[in-house]
Amino acid sequence: MLFTIEINDQKVSARRGETILTVLNRSGIRVPTLCHLNGYTPTGSCRLCVVEVEGIRSLIPSCSAPVEEWMKIRTHTPRVLKARRTIVELLLANHPDDCFYCDRSGGCELQALADELNVHERKYMNRRKPVQVDRNCPAIERNPAKCILCERCIRVCDEMIGVSAIEIIGRGNKSQIGTGINKGLNYTACVKCGQCIMVCPTNALKEKTTFPNVVEALNNRELYPVIQFSPTVPVSIADEIGIKPGKDIMTLLRTAMQRIGFKQVFDSSFGADINIMEVAAELAQRIKTGENLPLFTSCCPAWVKYIQDTKPEYKGWLSTTKSPQLITGEIFKRYFAPLAGIPGEKVFMVSVMPCTAKKYESVNEQSKSEVDAVITTRELLKMIRMLGIDFTTLEPEQTASSNNIRSSAGVLFGAAGGALEGILRTLHFQLTGEELANYKIPELRGFKGRKEGKIMIGKTAIGYAAISGLANAKSLMNEIKAGRNDLHIIEIMACPNGCINGGGQPFDTSEKSIRSRMKALHDTDDTELIRVAHKNPLVSEIYSRLLGQPNSELSKELLHITYADQPPV
Ligand code: FES
Repeated sequence: MLFTIEINDQKVSARRGETILTVLNRSGIRVPTLCHLNGYTPTGSCRLCVVEVEGIRSLIPSCSAPVEEWMKIRTHTPRVLKARRTIVELLLANHPDDCFYCDRSGGCELQALADELNVHERKYMNRRKPVQVDRNCPAIERNPAKCILCERCIRVCDEMIGVSAIEIIGRGNKSQIGTGINKGLNYTACVKCGQCIMVCPTNALKEKTTFPNVVEALNNRELYPVIQFSPTVPVSIADEIGIKPGKDIMTLLRTAMQRIGFKQVFDSSFGADINIMEVAAELAQRIKTGENLPLFTSCCPAWVKYIQDTKPEYKGWLSTTKSPQLITGEIFKRYFAPLAGIPGEKVFMVSVMPCTAKKYESVNEQSKSEVDAVITTRELLKMIRMLGIDFTTLEPEQTASSNNIRSSAGVLFGAAGGALEGILRTLHFQLTGEELANYKIPELRGFKGRKEGKIMIGKTAIGYAAISGLANAKSLMNEIKAGRNDLHIIEIMACPNGCINGGGQPFDTSEKSIRSRMKALHDTDDTELIRVAHKNPLVSEIYSRLLGQPNSELSKELLHITYADQPPV
């Protein structure tokens, strides 16, 4: 029901059930927020968004208070501004004074708020007991000293990912965000997806960086440094590095990486093509025998960890095929390096991934990884700045690895539903010897957290589902547990909308930005000549010269995983 309220003496329409903050945002009035997260349960804990409501003595938090028909609201009175300023002053009283060295400086919400509210000196000084930085996780570092207890990380871990690895521990002024067992993230059900980092307003959570190791490897003359990129990287950084629309960013990236000192530059979509070949063959075999269906994709390490930690009874349904980054690392050292006259052990393989869980995957024993360092998209941006590459003047050049071919099916892995689309295209070919009449599967496109459909392959209706946002997997798992048996393959990506929105991506997670990354990947698929993995000539070369055929003994040895009972940390 629509009604009219007053905000700062102006008439504004509101709807029953909306919060005051929603109405303010729609009316072009901005109030500062910290604990608020769009789409999540409001906690009203930071109170930065307070407003004055005529007739109510105390200030009320606009993010959690519902709007009422009688309300006359004031958003920026001296009383409100003073309250907000005091909140920020108190938060700063507990905050380390190390902005100069902090990774988030310039992008820190607390810093921005202090500036916005004209807080430019320390008013209060609390003596917080020194706290230990949690560095035991290979993917995520946690510094409780920088935490302002907004609880955004807790809500995302709970509501979006569904693992509840972190919580408030302690009481009163001793409370902090930690793990129930207080031993560190590595000892919890944390799947290392990094979505907590994406919502942290300060630098209390960040990726465990490995980019100094990469710089060191670049300067080691004994090593042959090689870099691979997830297809999500070029579609996410153009704005950040000042590349104008229409420029061929992948060629520019190759050129830049070669200038920095990498000997070869690979697109991980090539590894995704091999992943497609292997998973499609696995699925074809399972369909034939009727065993271990539905097949769960294994390209998202956060999902694999979730199954191993939380639902080990479904472990047998996971595809055993390694992820694209692991496959690219393996094939490079085994095939391309010897071809270039380089012993595999001299190769230092760096992956640039949109994901912090890929860091964990690369050091996890069961992966038998040939990837030597994983950096996130954010770390890449830092490395580019540090090593002095100016993309605005850089001219694209032919590079040693310009002939590194991938299909657009491999590129689609970056968006939720894309891996499945690529696998179904190749499954159709492997089972019938014919191409799918229409490669594009519209049911797998778009922004929904759960996409489902059926596709006829020969005389069999293959049921499929794609889930993104790990918490969305729970209801489907329950349906399967309750006897649902019409699905043959399920793709699960821990992050909403897939890797384009991964925990290692630039901090702009606005819907506009995620949609534009998704569109860029889909546009690639619309315009490329090679749209299926089985038509990639480089894939054919690898099978004819090295692996034989998908799921051969050698590909099982090199490209598949035997899952441990509990994933080793
Ligand atoms: Fe409203 Fe924190 S943003 S209480």
